[in-house]
Amino acid sequence: MVDHMLHDEHVASLDIINRLEVRIGNGKWAKRLDSTVPADRHLLEQLVSMMNSEVHHHLPFEEKELFPKLDELGFEDITGMLFDEHEAIRSLAKAIILAANDALANGFNEDKWSKFFDNLAEMIGIIIFHIQKEEMGVISRLEMLLGAETCHEMAVVYRSLISKAPT
Ligand SMILES: [Fe+2]
Ligand SMILES: [Fe+2]
Repeated sequence: MVDHMLHDEHVASLDIINRLEVRIGNGKWAKRLDSTVPADRHLLEQLVSMMNSEVHHHLPFEEKELFPKLDELGFEDITGMLFDEHEAIRSLAKAIILAANDALANGFNEDKWSKFFDNLAEMIGIIIFHIQKEEMGVISRLEMLLGAETCHEMAVVYRSLISKAPT
């Protein structure tokens, strides 16, 4: 069911965000991620992969398949707000992916780390709030809103989109 798929992706994103927050803390230079340390490398790689899946399939699927169905039920105000948050996430994700890939290849210097941390902190603030809104306002009652059959059909569409999306 599509509500479970989206929910599982939300939980996976929150898990990575949680581990990043614990590891980086206040973002001071002494707390920087060190790409020569395997655990830090892994965290950076997981962040890139999460951001890519947001940009390439999670956000586009919600916008093209989910939001229009919700709009038919009169949810335009909510989907409009969620879409604006997607735009903010997308633009921060681009900068974060570039910076994380650069760090994986070359490490951070102080300037790059501070920009990376600022973008990451902003993205984390937006995405946590965004996921809360989607989960409480939409996903937790999606089957009731759209019906089980539609949720099944949308899951098939989503799986196909995921299989075609670049990783
Ligand atoms: Fe979303
Ligand atoms: Fe979402």
